[in-house]
Amino acid sequence: MEGSSTKPTICWQIGDYDPRDPLTQEALAEAGRLVRGGGLVAFPTETVYGLGADARNSAAVRRIFEAKGRPSDNPLIVHVANREGAAAVARTDDPAVSALMEAFWPGPLTLVLPAREGAVAPEVTAGLPTVAVRVPDHPVALALIRSAGCPIAAPSANRSGRPSPTNAAHVREDLDGRIGGIVDGGPTGVGVESTVVEPIPGGVRILRPGGVTAEQLAAVAGRVELDPALQKEGPEDAAAAERFAPRSPGMKYTHYAPQGRLAIVEAKDGDPRQAAEYIRRELEAARARGEKTGILTVAEHAPWYEASADVVSVAGTLADPSSVARGLFAALRRFDEEGATFMLAESFPEHGIGQAVMNRLTKAAGGTRLRV
Ligand code: TXA
Ligand code: MG
Repeated sequence: MEGSSTKPTICWQIGDYDPRDPLTQEALAEAGRLVRGGGLVAFPTETVYGLGADARNSAAVRRIFEAKGRPSDNPLIVHVANREGAAAVARTDDPAVSALMEAFWPGPLTLVLPAREGAVAPEVTAGLPTVAVRVPDHPVALALIRSAGCPIAAPSANRSGRPSPTNAAHVREDLDGRIGGIVDGGPTGVGVESTVVEPIPGGVRILRPGGVTAEQLAAVAGRVELDPALQKEGPEDAAAAERFAPRSPGMKYTHYAPQGRLAIVEAKDGDPRQAAEYIRRELEAARARGEKTGILTVAEHAPWYEASADVVSVAGTLADPSSVARGLFAALRRFDEEGATFMLAESFPEHGIGQAVMNRLTKAAGGTRLRV
């Protein structure tokens, strides 16, 4: 597929998936052939859109890194259709691992497991002895894996550093002309990426919070640890810095950041009205300096900012934390679409899906969290 990046990107409109629809069948057959032939195809999962390639094909996997502009030391997740598919690329015989697969697959849980030697291209694991595997809970993703007939390596289908894509338009924005095709299956459901865990004695360690919450994991896995790299306080000395080196290589890169400056504002006493007062003042001062201002908020609070923000970007509703996860990346992308240069974000409760939301938002803000 040399030169696939100079050909126009094919877009297959699947819409609501109906396996009996002949156009859908044809699209998935064609997309599967493209992957099988070493090409790149973006496809919907329940979390975000992925950019897929045959995980066994080094040249194809290298094209993913090229198309995304992704550092090659950041390994990819391998998408398989079921537990047998996982067992073909990783050691899954541990009973604790079986329990996790049983409880959460298909679904937004990625397991970092000992890799089966030679089962996937070395570029997928960036040379690590482990491989990250998941079974996505999306009929189009599963149909594409079956159609391609191979494990599919797929990072999120965005240019490296940009918010992950939650619809096909986001993928086109970032990758049009750089990839073979996009299977458009409508907007994704969860909105933040999968939870990445590695098994530890008596439980799991979360390397990246995501669609499966720590609370849900604890109910199945027992002990749930957070990778020290995810903890808020920075390292104090070299030894601590070593401990804080993220075990999930992707977590060390700037990510999700809009073009302008973004900071998160948290009220010390947890009162959103107090944070709002500070936010309005700062936005007005920024506007007076000539900035185009933005606020990332929830529907319930949007009216508070109408007079002081040029861009009021609503991620979801306070009443439904999962709606904030679903809308977060589109809300971040909106700042760039509107050319905002100075943005503030409200802070969200850090439990349940809120842990993943605050992790992504904190990265988007380059770690800047203001307590007022
Ligand atoms: O929901 C998702 O997980 C989406 C969809 C497309 O499935 N995919 C996704 O992939 O978010 P990506 O490449 O953007 O993130 C993969 C994460 C990175 O943080 C990477 O460092 C980590 O998984 N990872 C992959 N292989 C690993 C390994 N062997 N050990 C530790 N971390 C690994
Ligand atoms: Mg990503």
